[in-house]
Amino acid sequence: MSRAVRFAMAMIVSLGLLTWGALTIVQRTTRSWFEKDLRLRVDLVMSGARQALLSHWEKDDRRALERVLADIARDERIMAAAACGTDLSFLAGTDEFPEAFGCVRVGPHLRPAADSPADLWVPWSVKASLPGGPVHVSAVPIVGGSQPFGFVVLVHDLSFVARREALTRRSLLAAFAVLAMAASILTVIFSRLSWRDWSDEIRRFLQGDSERPEFRPILGDVRRLVDRVMLEHEADGSGAGWTPDRLKQTLNRYLHREKVVLVANREPYIHERGPDGRIDVVHPASGLVTALEPVMRACSGVWVAHGGGSADRESADRHGRVRVPPDENSYVLRRVWLSPEEERGYYYGFANEGLWPLCHLAHARPTFRTEDWRHYQEVNRKFADAVCEEVEGEDPIVLVQDYHFTLLPRLIRKRLPRATVLMFLHIPWPNSERFGVCPWRQELLEGMLGAGILGFHTQYHCNNFLDSVDRYLEARLDRAENAVVLRGRQTLVRAYPISVEWPVRWLRDLPPAQECRRQVFAELGLPPNALLGLGVDRLDYTKGVEERFLAVERLLDRFPEFRGRFTFVQLAAPSRTLIDRYRQLNERVESLAARINARFEDGPYRPIVLLRAHHEPPAVFRYYRAADVCYVSSLHDGMNLVAKEFGAARDDERGVLVLSEFTGAARELTEALIVNPYDLEQASEALAAALRMPPEAQRDRMRSMRAFLAEFNVYRWAGRMLVDAARLRRQERLAGRLHDGDPDPRAVLS
Ligand code: F6P
Repeated sequence: MSRAVRFAMAMIVSLGLLTWGALTIVQRTTRSWFEKDLRLRVDLVMSGARQALLSHWEKDDRRALERVLADIARDERIMAAAACGTDLSFLAGTDEFPEAFGCVRVGPHLRPAADSPADLWVPWSVKASLPGGPVHVSAVPIVGGSQPFGFVVLVHDLSFVARREALTRRSLLAAFAVLAMAASILTVIFSRLSWRDWSDEIRRFLQGDSERPEFRPILGDVRRLVDRVMLEHEADGSGAGWTPDRLKQTLNRYLHREKVVLVANREPYIHERGPDGRIDVVHPASGLVTALEPVMRACSGVWVAHGGGSADRESADRHGRVRVPPDENSYVLRRVWLSPEEERGYYYGFANEGLWPLCHLAHARPTFRTEDWRHYQEVNRKFADAVCEEVEGEDPIVLVQDYHFTLLPRLIRKRLPRATVLMFLHIPWPNSERFGVCPWRQELLEGMLGAGILGFHTQYHCNNFLDSVDRYLEARLDRAENAVVLRGRQTLVRAYPISVEWPVRWLRDLPPAQECRRQVFAELGLPPNALLGLGVDRLDYTKGVEERFLAVERLLDRFPEFRGRFTFVQLAAPSRTLIDRYRQLNERVESLAARINARFEDGPYRPIVLLRAHHEPPAVFRYYRAADVCYVSSLHDGMNLVAKEFGAARDDERGVLVLSEFTGAARELTEALIVNPYDLEQASEALAAALRMPPEAQRDRMRSMRAFLAEFNVYRWAGRMLVDAARLRRQERLAGRLHDGDPDPRAVLS
């Protein structure tokens, strides 16, 4: 049904209701007018006839009385009249006076007036009906001096009222029907014309061609709304969930197949020469890689990263390029070579001993060394060179990832002023006091503000960043827009909670969950009735691995039913081992596991199995599918994709996630049992509740979590950022056009 027809129908229904209301009002009003009219008539008739009636009454001349009554009844509205005595006797009346209103019937209704000494009656009237139609009956007392003689009954014909009402109703209905038709036709015509005008105007505006100033304030809102609606419902034509194809289409549609250049320190494929001399391809343990690799496979383009593998150079061409994934060749990995000093200063030093502890609230003191800072600057410049070598044209799309490259957006902007630069931080952003301890805080902020869009996992981190800018830079903050304007250039600061691919490709070659469980139990030598807990992390002090083991110990202390039955497996990928703190963590975690195991070991039973090694994704996913509970106990984490991977792995809808409240994921995965990892009582209780949870409850939670993950997957994350980037490009182009002749395109956006 077309919009116009629906509109006309709605119009007719409303007018119908209006007509019905109007008819009721008109009917009530006219009826009360007629009744008033009737009473006036009675008064008139009776005052004209009163004298004659009195004189004949006094003489008891019944024939004369009859004549007067016949005169009265000559009025076409008075059907009959009768004279009755005070004793209710019938004195005289017109022919065929209806018996129903005879003296004895009407008389008892006459009441004496309250203050009348002579018991004079008060006139009385009533509406009634006769076979011929409605009538109005009135009884009028006849008084001579102060002496009551009796009363006259008049029967009025009311059928004319009904006839007039019917006529009025018909005329009104006809008038409203004509009005309704005319109004709906006119409305449809006008609405079509004005909708066309309005949509033309909006279209012109969205294309940037309109001159109408009154629309300007809402233009940004309308564009955003249109983009959001298009993005949500139209990108793949079906409105269905986000897939690699849909992301590809979004890129084509909004960014016209622009090549995407992504910069991240960690490469998605590391070529390592094994002890047997063979070259292996390793997938690093990295949330960033987990999220972005599927995106790059969908978008193509180039991933620029540090080539850190022992066989990386020999696997790449002379420019450091290699097509990946091996056997698929979807995109190019461009490796940047760093000297050991550069790697130590930039990666281990400034990034991971300075910025990492600065941004994570995990009780680690940041260390800032001038030498590290120098290397950090150099390496950022080196990556800027690599980006410039990889881009095509002067307005590429560059996605800068993480805290290793805070200076890069500004460097790229200087070299490629028309580039669209997006930066995403995979770690939390601290509050401004904490951030302020960094000696190069201003340089970092200015470097990041070279990006047009700056993304964090949560709005909370966006706010912290804006506060830091407010405190340490001379920049204009637009809180309503969540934007910073620095030297005339705007950076939008937005929350984009990252996610995992859906469905996960690693599941394709894995057996069903039951079989994975059987295999894992066999590997670990667990009996079939054992309960399995799982932790999966890089061995990093922010992950709360020690707190996790202590929670397991507390569980066994408090709930003896789990002793000998519950085993917690920790897959721990060694990480950043050149840093003292990480080496110490390794030792501490190992001795803690040994202490707890010594307390509860029983024959072959050990409560904690610490597997300190790199595990390839299929192995990790096998464990996810085997576990009864997965415990993510980060002390502070931007998002934590282990939590999301666990949910994505469980197509059997079993298993329970226990999740630290200090992860970004805890804001989204509310089906998990959320805990404070420092609170060992709470954490151990949650572990017990997870292990005791009935299968139906597990299924309900898992089903809901998986529905969320299916919808809010990493393709959607990337799609939202790219659409925002497209909008930014359009704005910049429009602003550039406005500033035609402006020799400095860096100053175009305000
Ligand atoms: O999550 C933060 C992060 O630095 C990511 O950038 C990376 O995926 C992960 O930690 C691993 O760190 P690294 O690359 O230092 O091993």
